[in-house]
Amino acid sequence: MLAAALLSATALQEQKSPQDMNRFIDALMKRMTVEEKIGQLNLPVTGEITTGQAKSSDVAKKIEQGLVGGLFNLKEAARIRDVQRLAVENSRLDIPLLFGMDVIHGYETIFPIPLGLSCTWDMAAIEESARIAAVEASADGISWTFSPMVDISRDPRWGRVSEGSGEAPFLGGAIAKAMVYGYQGNNLKEQLKRDDEIMACVKHFALYGAGEAGRDYNTVDMSRNCMFNEYMYPYQAAVEAGVGSVMASFNEVDGVPATANRWLLTDVLRKQWGFQGFVVTDFTGISEMIEHGIGDLQTVSARAINAGVDMDMVSEGFVGTLRKSVVEGKVSMKTLDTTCRRVLEAKYRLGLFDKPYKYCDLARPARDIFTKAHRAAARRIAAESFVLLKNDSVKQHSGALPQPLLPLKKQGTVAVIGPLGNTRSNMPGTWSVAARLDDYPSLYEGLKEMLAGKVTVTYAKGSNLLGDAAYEERATLFGRSLNRDNRTDRQLLDEALKTAAGADVIIAALGESSEMSGESSSRTDLDIPDVQRTLLEALLKTGKPVVLTLFTGRPLTLTWEQAHVPAILNVWFGGSEAAYAIGDVLFGDVNPSGKLTMTFPKNVGQIPLFYNHKNTGRPLADGKWFEKFRSNYLDVDNEPLYPFGYGLSYTTFQYSDIALSTPTMTQDGSITAVVTVTNTGRHEGTEVVQLYIRDLVGNITRPCAS
Ligand code: NOJ
Repeated sequence: MLAAALLSATALQEQKSPQDMNRFIDALMKRMTVEEKIGQLNLPVTGEITTGQAKSSDVAKKIEQGLVGGLFNLKEAARIRDVQRLAVENSRLDIPLLFGMDVIHGYETIFPIPLGLSCTWDMAAIEESARIAAVEASADGISWTFSPMVDISRDPRWGRVSEGSGEAPFLGGAIAKAMVYGYQGNNLKEQLKRDDEIMACVKHFALYGAGEAGRDYNTVDMSRNCMFNEYMYPYQAAVEAGVGSVMASFNEVDGVPATANRWLLTDVLRKQWGFQGFVVTDFTGISEMIEHGIGDLQTVSARAINAGVDMDMVSEGFVGTLRKSVVEGKVSMKTLDTTCRRVLEAKYRLGLFDKPYKYCDLARPARDIFTKAHRAAARRIAAESFVLLKNDSVKQHSGALPQPLLPLKKQGTVAVIGPLGNTRSNMPGTWSVAARLDDYPSLYEGLKEMLAGKVTVTYAKGSNLLGDAAYEERATLFGRSLNRDNRTDRQLLDEALKTAAGADVIIAALGESSEMSGESSSRTDLDIPDVQRTLLEALLKTGKPVVLTLFTGRPLTLTWEQAHVPAILNVWFGGSEAAYAIGDVLFGDVNPSGKLTMTFPKNVGQIPLFYNHKNTGRPLADGKWFEKFRSNYLDVDNEPLYPFGYGLSYTTFQYSDIALSTPTMTQDGSITAVVTVTNTGRHEGTEVVQLYIRDLVGNITRPCAS
């Protein structure tokens, strides 16, 4: 319904053939100087540009000289229109600019962080989230998003697992496609024709999620067998879905930084997979190769373009050195022409030569951004992303029979306690660049509003985010402060216990701040932080029922919580409507159906721990813990705390009549599995049916499950 309404909102752009495009670009390139061609490859960073001030901004002169191909992270249709005007009215050849942004999980209407989104396993919902993001971003001037991020990762120490879809290559590939379709359109022949479709950029190519020890930007070293079987498919799937651009990753692949890796960017991406779009570096990806130790700026810039990079994000290595490299014969004119052509083709595909102000209709922002319909979709999808990790039966009153703690009844007094309980700015989650940080309700505010007249909702902070103030500062950057409380831990705890004493049920809002995951937020200790654990212990000691409502951007180690807390609902960072969605699930209007897409280990020492592992020659027998000379540990068993695919429901499902269409694979490689799923409980519910396969014998070893 929603998608149909959105589709009728704007007109289709005029159809043009590939021959038209080639003729147009040939003619244009004949008129371009070497400098102007290099200029198209330049994606500089810009400071704030206020409406009406574009001309005096620091990049204005460069734009007018034709030395800029695009800009990024500039917000607002009016400002973007002003800057676009500099390019199409004041530069010699009137070539329009691309305007990119990290629109990762929504624009102003924010959806759950990608890891949460993936736990819906709902491709239609994921596509819809990207579609809405495209409608909003395009209404505000944006033509290009640096999404989807499809890096497979098996290491929750890496903060950027929050931006990806977990550890499964097949699921990750399906999600990559859904996201590209959402941004660009799902009809390959018609993609990017509409005014509300924007170009996607699959990233970070490749293997960025496999950095050693989960440390961001770290070295990757992986066999080709592993990369093609376990890591590459999501990037390839995005290419199959028609993604317009690819971002090279910061890390090295086979000893060569991805940004200079010709095998990766040309042999695999273009020759093997048939990618037709353009490749952009990551932020300063070219100049960072000096630190990687492979040469000076001129050398690394030449290596990047010769490897297959088309656009230089921020390094200014191309504008600074390529001309010299062309003169010295280190970069051929043919290579320069090919890269320039790819960038121009992207602009042409977007329709910017015909309609440079296509995304600058000033009537659209008010009509298309943060609308009621978008927010309703975000609330529904957020509730779908939550994963119920535990729901024990407890006696809620003396004399009452034990029953599952969740869903809660809409009665009495509920205390929201914890440092994540009353923060607006932490609700949307990391990488929500365009978020309206003050406009989304905190959990406490949302619950109070939706339960007014039925439930009394109270609140206490209970503890700071972290005991260590300096750590808390590092973990709450970019306007996501939790307003550190100067009272002592004891004072905060006493206040919380007083609030708890007056409540029937406690909702403990604990976990990570939104900036504890995401870029440059690796962690080695994945427990719930110290002061919060102390608070949780004290709340449990009150004897009141406690629901741990866990905010996190990654799998945490919850062994203690699993042993002691009766109910745990993992809500990730659910986006702009998260508070309402949490209320929907806690109070039973929505039955949780999210399933984990990344394994939760028992402790950090088990990492990497993932479902599609190999058997080894010395596997541990099922149900065993330790056996000498088997593949295991002395101090912990091999099992995760919560496995991939795990997630509880308020109801129960029974699987029966499982059958395969044929006993063996057909010639076309397909086989259909059929199963009857029956809801055998008392609540309505949705079940994510999962199918795993295992190749029992092969010439190379195969995972125990795929
Ligand atoms: C660096 C990040 O790695 C990448 O994901 C992002 O798109 C760029 N910065 C641009 O903001």
